[in-house]
Amino acid sequence: MINIGLIGCGRISKNHFEAIAQQTDARCIACCDIIEDRARVSAQQYQIPFWTTKYHDMLQDPNINLVSICTPSGMHHEHGILAAQNKKHVLIEKPMACRLSDADNLIRTCKESGVKLFVVLQNRLNPAIQLVKRALDEGRFGKVYMITSNVFWTRPQEYYDMASWRGTWALDGGAFMNQASHYVDMVRWFGGPVDSVKAFTATLARNIEAEDTGSAIIKFMNGAIGSINVTMLTYPQNMEGSITIIGETGTVRIGGIAMNKIEYWSFADVKDYDLNIKEAATNPDSVYGFGHRGFYQEVIKALVQDGPLSDAKYTDGKAGRNSLELLEAIYHYK
Ligand SMILES: NC(=O)c1ccc[n+]([C@@H]2O[C@H](COP(=O)([O-])OP(=O)(O)OC[C@H]3O[C@@H](n4cnc5c(N)ncnc54)[C@H](O)[C@@H]3O)[C@@H](O)[C@H]2O)c1
Repeated sequence: MINIGLIGCGRISKNHFEAIAQQTDARCIACCDIIEDRARVSAQQYQIPFWTTKYHDMLQDPNINLVSICTPSGMHHEHGILAAQNKKHVLIEKPMACRLSDADNLIRTCKESGVKLFVVLQNRLNPAIQLVKRALDEGRFGKVYMITSNVFWTRPQEYYDMASWRGTWALDGGAFMNQASHYVDMVRWFGGPVDSVKAFTATLARNIEAEDTGSAIIKFMNGAIGSINVTMLTYPQNMEGSITIIGETGTVRIGGIAMNKIEYWSFADVKDYDLNIKEAATNPDSVYGFGHRGFYQEVIKALVQDGPLSDAKYTDGKAGRNSLELLEAIYHYK
């Protein structure tokens, strides 16, 4: 049985608590938030035996094997390092840190402490995404020419005003680092190592430090050209979240609310799973998608079996670092 302690009982924690409750080999035995009400209410709602406002107290419990970190992004590395130093495995929300140097410290500490590090990039587990990755790995696209992603969403000022960390450079970042980070991750995962990046970002309408709008152009090592266009100012509501891959012998477009639907699928060759395209669509009710449950399943399996991380299935520290590296490159060219 994997015993989990969770820190940060805010908006995304619900997906974690519910995903953990659906696992047979894991349970949440402690939760923590600096806002007492949030820790107490979560403990009541999900029948968690221990709650606290002091992270250090939770880390003292020798029964906790894994700590799930759902605090503001700029605190992830600090909370992850403390967990690792206390010999707990670390599961961290995206992005794993706001700076590459912080991510590297975290990765190093986990290695030195002999614990595993998992980064929540749950959309990689979407059945639609898995099919696209399979087609890429099988070489069905031939030479990949172009990968583009559009994230045309809406986040009103009230969204940023919900918590003081939102939209700040120290604890969050902007549209690329927070809202579009799964799309950045997917473009990097599909496109592979990056040669160079150019980007423009701007804060056009929201009262925040970081950007609400931006475009990045990417040259991949394999020669392909990529682009990511992001805005949180779409009128009047979320309109598009898509990724298109164009290759020599294949073109695919993924859309839906949370990368859950294949909208275009055309290859020069034919495979049996081409018939599964429609069935692969899931129907999540929010941009968070359904992925946390499957993600926890993979994490628990890796811990119980002490197995290696499989890149096709879920994400370790290195995978989380890859997308953070691209995010930093986008911001450096501001
Ligand atoms: N995987 C996804 O799709 C997804 C979706 C949403 C958010 N996230 C990520 O989850 C993280 C949290 O986002 P959120 O929307 O839940 O934010 P939130 O503000 O709703 O929740 C964060 C919680 O952390 C608590 N906290 C802050 N400092 C703390 C400390 N020192 N000790 C204990 N608790 C502390 C806050 O009181 C708050 O309750 C962010 O990094 C975000 O990027 C991921």
